[in-house]
Amino acid sequence: MKKILLLTLMFTGMAFSNVYAQSPQSVVLTFYENLQREQAVDFKGFSSERGQNLFVSAFSDGKPDIPSCTTCHTPSPTGTGKTRAGKIIEPMALSINNARYTDTVKTEKWFRRNCKSVMGRECTPREKGDFLTFMMGQ
Ligand code: HEC
Repeated sequence: MKKILLLTLMFTGMAFSNVYAQSPQSVVLTFYENLQREQAVDFKGFSSERGQNLFVSAFSDGKPDIPSCTTCHTPSPTGTGKTRAGKIIEPMALSINNARYTDTVKTEKWFRRNCKSVMGRECTPREKGDFLTFMMGQ
């Protein structure tokens, strides 16, 4: 009996350490993947290309002075951006800024705020996943 308990604990521990072995970014991405799967049964994965399109596109339904993500984040994912108040925004590309996309609450907060300002609406889970997939490959 004791042995079984010990084994169970061991396997549970292994399962947990597996969760922690995942990169924090893949935890954030999985969050959006699960949301998207709930909405669309035919989910076929995120697309870096769609993510790039979202990043560089100009929209007309948001605030007129910030038509695009690139207005603040610069057209290059590796560029250092600026808020309208002149505050520095560290680059979005994961390859040179691995502090990015490590916290679902933070990422979600900024998606909500920025998508509303630029597009006049919230981004869908698919758009968020596409955007992250693009930036994580940069
Ligand atoms: C008005 C300026 C501005 C615009 C336009 C803007 N952003 Fe941002 N964004 C910021 C600021 C400021 C932060 C937070 C500071 C930071 O994380 O460096 C941020 C952070 C983020 C984050 C959080 C990243 C992380 O580390 O988790 C995401 C995601 C993001 N922006 C996506 C977008 C998308 C998508 C668009 C276009 C739809 C966009 N942003 C447009 C200013 C902007």
